[in-house]
Amino acid sequence: MNKELSLSYMILKKVILDKSYVSIELNKALQKNPNVNTALVTKIVYGVLEKDITLEYFVECNVNKMPKPEILILLKMVGYVSKTINSIPTFALVNEVVNLAKKEDKYASGFVNAVSKKLISSQIVLPSKKDKIKYLSVKNNYPEWVIKELLKSHDEKFVEDLVSVNLTTLTHIRVNRSLISAREFKIKLELFEIKYEPSLYDYTMYVDYAKLLKVRDLDKLYVVQGLPSIITCNVLGAIEGKVLDTCSAPGGKAIFLAENKNLDIFACDIHGHRLDLIKKYAKNYDVTNIHFCLQDGTKFNPAWENNFDYVLCDVPCSNLGVSRKKPDVFLNKTLNDAKMLSGIQYQILENSARYVKSGGILQYSTCTIIDIENKCVIEKFLKNHKDFELTEIKVPNLNVSNESGLCTFYPNLTHTEGFFIGRLKKK
Ligand SMILES: C[S@@+](CC[C@H](N)C(=O)[O-])C[C@H]1O[C@@H](n2cnc3c(N)ncnc32)[C@H](O)[C@@H]1O
Repeated sequence: MNKELSLSYMILKKVILDKSYVSIELNKALQKNPNVNTALVTKIVYGVLEKDITLEYFVECNVNKMPKPEILILLKMVGYVSKTINSIPTFALVNEVVNLAKKEDKYASGFVNAVSKKLISSQIVLPSKKDKIKYLSVKNNYPEWVIKELLKSHDEKFVEDLVSVNLTTLTHIRVNRSLISAREFKIKLELFEIKYEPSLYDYTMYVDYAKLLKVRDLDKLYVVQGLPSIITCNVLGAIEGKVLDTCSAPGGKAIFLAENKNLDIFACDIHGHRLDLIKKYAKNYDVTNIHFCLQDGTKFNPAWENNFDYVLCDVPCSNLGVSRKKPDVFLNKTLNDAKMLSGIQYQILENSARYVKSGGILQYSTCTIIDIENKCVIEKFLKNHKDFELTEIKVPNLNVSNESGLCTFYPNLTHTEGFFIGRLKKK
């Protein structure tokens, strides 16, 4: 029995069929099975998820009828492992998936055996370029519906660049300047021979995270945070006063904003267990200028009416902008989900507008790149709220797409994850 294959299958089933988070399932499974080859299981699980759409097409080309979801996962594993992992011999691979298939369905073993052999002996042939959407989707492992959405507002060349962009494998971090200066932190990185590359600010950088994690002395001196997430806090421009962060868990932005002790921050979330994450985060970093509130951003809290200088709506979204870092983002997501999210996003923005003082700022952000969750939400809001106007956003030294104050971070232009910011001022 190949333990790595069976464990990978169990994790993939939880992620693909039960919609669990890959990082959580992987950690749980690896902790319970300390004797397996961790690197191999991680490679198989992430590899299959990163190529999910391409592998599904590969299987589709080699069967007459698509199998049930459990069997499809096994065949995707065969497709992935046979093309990329030399340490598992093909006979062991076929044996193991046939055994796993038998447990799912006693009649499936012959089918799995035959299709696995076909997958092993053939190569992935991309769809014809004439079917542009399918071709881009299979080639770049990008959902067709997202490509169609992008094509509504961009030309083909732009969409092709966007879906095929490769981002750095280094991790973006921010120095915790409450404890150490950026200069001193860089000296420590050099001392421990940790490779880093510069990013937009002197206190942000891209690092070799696996190496950094091993140096416990540096633990509290930095936080992992994407560059757009840092930029959105800086763009908010909060120098002093009260800040409401309506959707704040796990707390990346609230904790960064709290570095400025002149700010009084109210960090909210609809989920108690997620609010606990910020509490823990704040405790870890000795942050005291944050109040924690369990609050649904779509429901009005009269005590907060016209009460805040700055209101940040970093709303729940389809996360399409972070697909390169989180390969499970595309799974089981449809255009309808994005439409449903845009309804919630609008409700949060509209309700939050009531908390902004006259002259105050209402800032909307997402980590997605499609208009229905970004530009369209803001446009609808502005149509219904003449007391708000867009303000200009300046992001120097980064090729952000700036359309009359609406900033989209397209990964092919910014080389960051995808993101969106709209900054509104109450008249
Ligand atoms: C994109 S995340 C926020 C990330 C956070 N701002 C940060 O920087 O770490 C969206 C958050 O919104 C929360 N959320 C979802 N629906 C909500 C609602 N109706 N009201 C308030 N929070 C909500 C989710 O629980 C999630 O924690």
